Amino acid sequence: MSTPLLLDTDPGCDDALAIVFALEHADIDLVGLTSIFGNAPTADTTRNARSILELFDRTDVPVAAGADEPLLVDLDTAEHIHGPGGIKGDLPEPTTATEPVSVPAAQFIVDQAREHEGELTLAAVGRLTNVALALALEPDLPDLLDETLIMGGSAFEAGNVSPLASANFWGDPHAARRVVRDTDPTVVPLDATQHSGLPAAWIEGLARDAPRSGAVYEWATYYSQDDLDRYGIETAAIHDVMALAGLVDDDLLEMEAHFMEVGADDGLAQGALAVDVQGTRDEDPNGRVALGVDADRYRELVTDTIDRAIE
Ligand code: RIB
Ligand code: CA
Repeated sequence: MSTPLLLDTDPGCDDALAIVFALEHADIDLVGLTSIFGNAPTADTTRNARSILELFDRTDVPVAAGADEPLLVDLDTAEHIHGPGGIKGDLPEPTTATEPVSVPAAQFIVDQAREHEGELTLAAVGRLTNVALALALEPDLPDLLDETLIMGGSAFEAGNVSPLASANFWGDPHAARRVVRDTDPTVVPLDATQHSGLPAAWIEGLARDAPRSGAVYEWATYYSQDDLDRYGIETAAIHDVMALAGLVDDDLLEMEAHFMEVGADDGLAQGALAVDVQGTRDEDPNGRVALGVDADRYRELVTDTIDRAIE
């Protein structure tokens, strides 16, 4: 049976690959996309989400536009990593076929959770603002969901926007703190994602003259360049895909249950994910966190799935 999935996303090169993965994999039923700022402002990520759906002929998937700003901190975007407008490549302008639904993302999340009560996975792979707002609208949201899945945090791995924080938690630390505290989440941090890029040979082998594989090539190569420049890692760590990959393969991620908290102070503690692996605070676990991955198995799953999507 396939998992109904609502993906909250800021496309974004790795988000785009996650959307393609979710559209293609038989064990996932993508019931909608909600957009959020992060890799670019929300107007841009909403447009990108719509263009990706149109490129892959999936205008049946509804899009809901998300919040424009973090709860308390200033907006911070990452076009320098993902490309102008938040995504590398020339995606077609979206048409009326993917016009966003009339309700904002937070309401759409609550509506979908009620419609698929007890079955829906809400995967958030951008800033957590929409999810925090949905929680404010419906405090019982976690009980309506099967799972809240988050790509974000860096528990023991270095952060990518500060020594302690990943972009998704740094960019709205108050939302991240609330969502991690209150949803019993599954968290996939940089500890799992950062060193498991796609094989360079697979990326090089992608056809560049066909619209879908050409787009995948652009996303993977552009994103890889930042990892190469900053960390000397040769292939793109496509963080967001890994969170979804764990949904379809139980043996992929090394999950541990621990007490976790996100720092919402300013300064270097902003957005830091603390995972109490030693139980120093004597608190019950409030979620699960992926601290490792079977990288070869992951690469095979992702490349097989994306290959099918661009055939
Ligand atoms: O830190 C990586 C995360 O931040 C990914 O979700 C990427 O798309 C950005 O949102
Ligand atoms: Ca993302």
